[in-house]
Amino acid sequence: MLTGTDLYEKLKDVRISGGACAFTPEKCETMAPLVNAINALKKERNAVILAHSYVSPEITYGVADHTGDSYQLAKDATRTNADTIVFAAVRFMGETAKILNPEKRVFIPGTDTGCTLADAVTGEDVRRLRREFPDHSFVCYINTTAEVKAECDVCVTSSNVYHIVETIPNDKIYFLPDKLMGQNLIDEMERRGVRKDIRVFDGRCYVHEEYDPEMVRFLRLKFPGVKVLSHPECNPGIIKVSDYVGSTSQMLDYVEKSKDERFAMLTECGLSSRLQVEFPRKQIVGSCTLCKYMKSNTLEGILRVLLKPQPKDEILLDEDVRRRAQRCIDAMFEYVEKKAPAPGAAPAPTEVPS
Ligand code: 13P
Ligand code: SF4
Repeated sequence: MLTGTDLYEKLKDVRISGGACAFTPEKCETMAPLVNAINALKKERNAVILAHSYVSPEITYGVADHTGDSYQLAKDATRTNADTIVFAAVRFMGETAKILNPEKRVFIPGTDTGCTLADAVTGEDVRRLRREFPDHSFVCYINTTAEVKAECDVCVTSSNVYHIVETIPNDKIYFLPDKLMGQNLIDEMERRGVRKDIRVFDGRCYVHEEYDPEMVRFLRLKFPGVKVLSHPECNPGIIKVSDYVGSTSQMLDYVEKSKDERFAMLTECGLSSRLQVEFPRKQIVGSCTLCKYMKSNTLEGILRVLLKPQPKDEILLDEDVRRRAQRCIDAMFEYVEKKAPAPGAAPAPTEVPS
């Protein structure tokens, strides 16, 4: 049994948004019974909890069995023996788990589990674009619905997008739905000397599009020696002035291995919280941004889906859509597992242009 004090000991270093999200001993005391109830029910129901790094720290450190980026969690979903998967994240991640585990029940506990990228494009859009660009390979970001994946050739995540697009044996690529990641992809292929005709869709992540290179200049002035890490969903201006670009888990690994002490994380606040819990000696500076969809996951919601799920909490997919979407995800696994070098984040500039 976890006590409020145990939970507080874990979470006491979380200080995002100037301390507004800090955990007090009293707050942890009220959370501990919920955490214990969830952990007991998990065993009773043979359920596993997967949590994206953006969800709140009490989920990550109180009840989650696996935490990671979208690629790692998709892999974790294929390795579990549990009968039920509770996916604390957004709907497209729950759908990915269901696509890979049709025989398991998959629940998403959030109350608003959209994603501005996944909501930007429909299966009908892809069918129309395929008629317009019949010679292009259609590459979709994992932040898409099952219906969209079912219409595409291969899925990618932020940890493998450059490697996969470089490797696809077609020099005509249609990438969707993230316009900014698409522009970063075009820039990275150019940097690698890969010549491909890459078309991009017009979706954006409302969290990452907010960052502005001016803010990075300010951070560098105010915090000398700071290492700036960004996600490939940020705009190309940010990518150019970052010290490292990668998926959420790759950013976490970078901080863990780095000898530097100060970091600015240009991504959702959940990642900064994880760093504060796991590497309390490292200083996280600047501000982060909240994703309202990820943050709609709560301990209460997880308890609800384990105790008495409502129909809207469960992921159910049409079998034909699921099978076609699985081909698209399996193609990604094959590209990643067959390849020679390790899965690549964007090899971002190590020196910041002045
Ligand atoms: P990661 O795969 O890097 O965790 O990204 C998922 C996401 O939604 C980022 O906004
Ligand atoms: Fe979607 Fe952006 Fe939230 Fe990630 S941070 S889940 S891309 S809205």
